[in-house]
Amino acid sequence: MTRKTPKNIISTDQFSRESLEDLFLLTDDIIANPAKYAKMLDGKIVSTLFYEPSTRTRLSFESAACRLGASVISTENAREVSSAVKGETLQDTIRVVNGYADAIVMRHSDVDSAEIAASVSSVPILNAGAGSGEHPTQALLDMYTIRQKKGDFNGLKVAISGDLLKGRTVHSLVKLLSLYDSVTIYGLSHKLLKLPQSYVDFMKEHDTKYIPCSEFTDLPADLDIIYHTRTQLERLESGAEKIKEYIIDKKVMSQFSPETYLLHPLPRIKEIAPEGDDDPRAIYFEQAHNGVKIRMALLAQVLTR
Ligand code: NCD
Repeated sequence: MTRKTPKNIISTDQFSRESLEDLFLLTDDIIANPAKYAKMLDGKIVSTLFYEPSTRTRLSFESAACRLGASVISTENAREVSSAVKGETLQDTIRVVNGYADAIVMRHSDVDSAEIAASVSSVPILNAGAGSGEHPTQALLDMYTIRQKKGDFNGLKVAISGDLLKGRTVHSLVKLLSLYDSVTIYGLSHKLLKLPQSYVDFMKEHDTKYIPCSEFTDLPADLDIIYHTRTQLERLESGAEKIKEYIIDKKVMSQFSPETYLLHPLPRIKEIAPEGDDDPRAIYFEQAHNGVKIRMALLAQVLTR
């Protein structure tokens, strides 16, 4: 019997404007008609295999699977409690889990882990964060949140800020934003945490204007989105704690228009002051909640082909 090729979610490179719009329309419909989807994945099993810490991504994927009627089997700390401790290769673990689940949602510390997993898997692999590389499903929910507020992506002015070097969510996000016309991206970071050149090149190839900057005051007042991130201390050399943090507080937000929305993939540590949480432009919790709906749409797409 020939195996059906799984449809994996590895990188935001896989998406086009059309496939994004399909995903967003399905997400809209899931929100409008949840009952229609409640048994869609009845009898399916989704495995969440997490080698790195997670709250939102794992729980929202699990919630998404449950809301579609699937069952979930989970390893939340696979680096310490799975057979990886005994020296099993990722490939062998994936081959084994293939016999237990219909899809594998995986987070791992290696940049190429999702590709490696997909190369041996007979069931879809969904990349839930691969080291300091990509985090495509986060970027998809970020884009969905931007679409809810702005309607369209063409012509947007977006600032990405914080840790652009190791922050995988911004890596995936700039690729998706680059699919649209006349987008300008401002990159605000410490000089040691600049966006890797490969992403800068990607934007250039897609005619997306990229403007690196070093102060909040370098950003225009009519910015559409500020996407702030924490410093990925766990991925940086020791001494990184001394790198200047960009902290967004009420004063910083006062420089922007009433339509400048503040997003963050969370967890936030101290880079967004809680004093601004009730600002209607601070939409990071709403953004996190969109994770369930987008992940429902993704699971529905990969498991009902
Ligand atoms: C992000 C991650 O894991 O990359 N978290 C998330 O999935 N929402 C961001 C981070 O950890 O800083």
